[in-house]
This record gives sequence, C-alpha cells and structure tokens, in this order.
Amino acid sequence: MNHRRTFLKQAGMLAGAFSAGSLFNQLHAASWEQAAQKISGLSPELAAADEDYWSVIQQGFTVSPAIINLNNGGVSPSPRIVQEAVERYNKLANEGPSYFMWRILDQGREPLRYKLATLAGCQPDEIAINRNATEALNTVIYGLNLKAGDEVIGTLQDYPNMIQAWRQRALRDGIVYKQLSFNFPIENDDEIVAAYEKAITPKTRILHVTHIINWVGQIMPVRKLCRMAHQHGLEVVVDGAHSFGLLDFKIPDLECDYFGTSLHKFLSAPIGSGMLWIKKEKIEKIWPLTCNDKPNSGDIRKFETLGTRSFPIEQGIGEAINFHTAIGSKRKEERIRYLKNYWADKVKDIPKVKLHTSLKADYSCAICGVSVDGMTPAQLDGALFGTYKIHTVGIVWENISCVRITPHVYTRIADLDKLVHAIEEIASGKKA
Ligand SMILES: Cc1ncc(COP(=O)(O)O)c(C=O)c1O
Repeated sequence: MNHRRTFLKQAGMLAGAFSAGSLFNQLHAASWEQAAQKISGLSPELAAADEDYWSVIQQGFTVSPAIINLNNGGVSPSPRIVQEAVERYNKLANEGPSYFMWRILDQGREPLRYKLATLAGCQPDEIAINRNATEALNTVIYGLNLKAGDEVIGTLQDYPNMIQAWRQRALRDGIVYKQLSFNFPIENDDEIVAAYEKAITPKTRILHVTHIINWVGQIMPVRKLCRMAHQHGLEVVVDGAHSFGLLDFKIPDLECDYFGTSLHKFLSAPIGSGMLWIKKEKIEKIWPLTCNDKPNSGDIRKFETLGTRSFPIEQGIGEAINFHTAIGSKRKEERIRYLKNYWADKVKDIPKVKLHTSLKADYSCAICGVSVDGMTPAQLDGALFGTYKIHTVGIVWENISCVRITPHVYTRIADLDKLVHAIEEIASGKKA
C-alpha cells in the first residue's frame, strides 16, 4: 500500500514537472486563440502588422513598465510560463535536491533533447544541452584536434569570447588565428565569401563565422561560406547566438559542421541555457571541455558532464520551445523584422542620424545600430535612458561605433514611437 502511495505521488510529481501549464492554460488563452484564428490565413509578413495578435503575445511577458527594454540582443526575458516552470522545478528540487534533480527532473533530459532537435531540424543525438553559447562554442574551439601551424580564419567583428578562445589556442598550441575585418553593413554576399576565400592557404583548417554579427545585426551568408569552405576541405564553426529562435531556419540547412547558440536570447528560454550541435560523424573527434569517461566516443552526451548545475533552468527550456512554436518561427522572425524596420525607417532621414545596419531582409532582422553625429555611443545611450528610460547599449568595438537597438516579440509599437520621438529630439539638440 505504502509502495503504491509512493508510486502515485511520484507519478503525480512527474506529471506536474513535465506536463507544465501549457500556454493555452493561461488566463488569456481565449484571447490568444481568437487572435491566432484571426491571423491564421495571413502570410507571416501581413501577420507581422496585426497589433491585436501581438498584444496578446505581449501579455505573456512580465516586463517592467518603468523602462523600455530595447537591449534584447544582450539577453531576453522569458515569458511568464517559462518563469513559472523554473520556479516550480526549483521548488521541487529543493524538496530534496539529489533525489528530485538527479532522479526526477533529469528524466526530462532526453525528451528535451528531442524537442530541441525537432526545432533545430536535426537528430536528437547531435544536440548537447549546456549553459550558453560561450560554453557550446568553447567546447568546439578547445576540442578540435589542431596542431602548430594550422590556420583558423575569423573576423575582428566576431564575439569576444570566441576571439579570446582562438587566441588562447594560438598561444597554447601555436595555431595561427587570422582575423578579417569587414565594414558593415554589406549588402553583397559574394564580397564576404571572397574575403574569406582570399585568406585561405594550404594550412587553413577552420572558418569561424558569426551567423548574425552581434554589434550591428548583419546576417552573414553562412551556407555560401560553408559551401566554399568545403570545396577547400575546411570545416566551419558557426556562432549562432543571435540567429537560433529568431531566423526561421534548420541547422542542417546551413551546411556547417559545428553550431553553438544561447537559448536565452531570441528563444526566450531561462537565463543561463545554451545548445551545441555537432554533425553526427564529427562528434567522435571533438574532445569534451569537461571530463568524460569516454572522451573519444561518438555520443553527444559526453559534452554534458557539467557536474551539478541548474536542472530547473534546463527543464524550463521546454516551455520556451512551446511558446515559440505556438507563435511559429517564420511569424516571429517577420514580426521582429517589422519592429526593427518600423523605427529604423522613421529615423533614417532625420538630419545627423545614421543607421549602421542594412534594412534589407536578407541582411538584418532584429538588431539595428544607430548613431547621432557629434555624440558618442555612451552619450546617446545615456540620453535615451536618462530622459526617456529607454534601455539600449552603446557599442564601441573595432571599426563600429553606434547604439544597438533590439526589439523582441513583446515590444509595443507605442514604445518604438517613443524611441523615434526621443531620437528626433536628441538629434535636433532639444534634449541630450
Ligand atoms: C555573437 C555572440 N556569440 C556569443 C555570445 C555569448 O553568448 P552567451 O552569453 O550565451 O555565452 C554572444 C552574447 O551576446 C554573442 O552576441
């Protein structure tokens, strides 16, 4: 009898942990359904402008009304259902950490891998779940068998954590790390591909490509770069921190060899979640960053010996995928691009204002850089927050100097109108 009770209790907890209140169980489910029905026949481009629909999505978030957060490129908030799942799992974990984490919550690992793989369009055994893009990509950068003299080509505009990892390999192992420099925006794929190709020598082994350049949002021609690289017998490491959960693509479509991403950016998964994808046949040769009893095995799980970490955060990823899927990848991409174009189109002809990002769909989506003549990025960022409580980020990196603006699905049109008004006033010298 006791046994039976314990079993039922455990089964109940499992159901609680993994059936997690779906989006449609939320209070505003009815309006969501109505709104979704209204746009169901519309193309993603037309649905992008349906404020009734997006106002329902906005209500799924708990963002502060005191500030306007336009730095979603740094890290994004999670919708309420994701936050609640993490809190629920955290409470459960604290009822008896080693039991509830290792024996109960960890049962969700393989279903989560399957869910991530479905979203990424790949096999579950090509996906490792980890804590962020840095961990995912450092695993590959430090795990590749490269010897002194082997060359890697990246750019000065890649993300600092990856640049530093390659530099560390150069110092430690004598590899040669070459960095190209691009003047973004560039609206010509061939120019980018040609620049990488020109730098290839017989010693080149790897191209490192950032799918969306974080500083200004330039979308890089990853598939064209991969095709070119493979013709030269090279492999390609893709930093997809800003693309996964934003652009509507499947990882194998990129034709790359390695892909690392954060899940706490556009997917809106719990803060501190990431993912590594490695093409099946390449897993074996990559050394794990942390220990494993079979470091040369072809099992992707060898990259998950992370020791004790937050299982509530990991398991919350599943709810973020539910939320994302309920909107739809292409619809989400088009809405966020629409929001970017909405404000950027309105400020681009204001005297002294300069955009640092192409507005063509092939070359940008969420992120756009902006500057005002005579102001440093820190001054513009300071004025936007000081006077208007608009949170952005000033970028000064290599040849880039601007303020980066990044909306997300919960961003309101009224907030972007305020941004436009603020830029108008600042540029005209009325406010600084
Ligand atoms: C292009 C790019 N790569 C990697 C990262 C690192 O992401 P994480 O903080 O998840 O490690 C970032 C973070 O902003 C980024 O913009």
